[in-house]
Amino acid sequence: MRDKIVAGNWKMNKNMEETEALLAEVSAKLPDTDAKVMVSPTFVNLASAVNQLESSSIEVIAQNMHFAESGAYTGEISADMLLNIGINTVILGHSERRAYFGETDEILKKKVKAALAKKMTVMFCFGEELNDRKSGNHFKVVESQLKNALFGLDAKSWSSIILAYEPVWAIGTGETASPEQAQEMHAFIRKTIATAFTKNIADNVSILYGGSVKPSNAEEIFSKPDVDGGLIGGAALVADDFIAIVKAI
Ligand code: PGA
Repeated sequence: MRDKIVAGNWKMNKNMEETEALLAEVSAKLPDTDAKVMVSPTFVNLASAVNQLESSSIEVIAQNMHFAESGAYTGEISADMLLNIGINTVILGHSERRAYFGETDEILKKKVKAALAKKMTVMFCFGEELNDRKSGNHFKVVESQLKNALFGLDAKSWSSIILAYEPVWAIGTGETASPEQAQEMHAFIRKTIATAFTKNIADNVSILYGGSVKPSNAEEIFSKPDVDGGLIGGAALVADDFIAIVKAI
């Protein structure tokens, strides 16, 4: 059985007081759910978020990390630093990291390897751009992103991988992939993993959808058989919206 997951990616939003207030509201309103609920505030607020949510089932996760153990990498954060403050899951490969910070498949492959070596869970993001979809190349692009960063993994690493399919054209644009488009791609992703590894691995990996998920569309997207939850950006910044999305799963 694969996990159902709703994760909030706060990106570069919310100062310390705002973070505290949003976490307090989300944890107070959190419904009983079998789904795993995760939140990802900015780095400077991670340690206090972990402390604040100590007795909550909500997991605090990081938005990024560097692949090196330590050293002269100004501005970067290592896996050990995250583990040291109680963070065990890291988002890697977000399209904003790829587009604005030059993260390539090659870099991501190193980051994934570094996180797994430290026994962290990786939420790996990938997805095609609008021109890929318009030209009908979306399956090919997604397959190559997966292949380049993840197909070198050994079979047992897959229990520490969560996938997040995020079509770039749907992120922060208000435009969402239709539930059918999401299901079609998620089924393709599962088939691609089954072919490269095993059906068992493919059946057990959670595949989240991300890109303008909101209370009004979450239920329909989550109802699709290969969609195991969502990675939520904008709507995760408003407690009631995020909670409504958690309820939708
Ligand atoms: P969005 O962001 O929900 O604001 O589109 C999703 C994401 O970037 O993970």
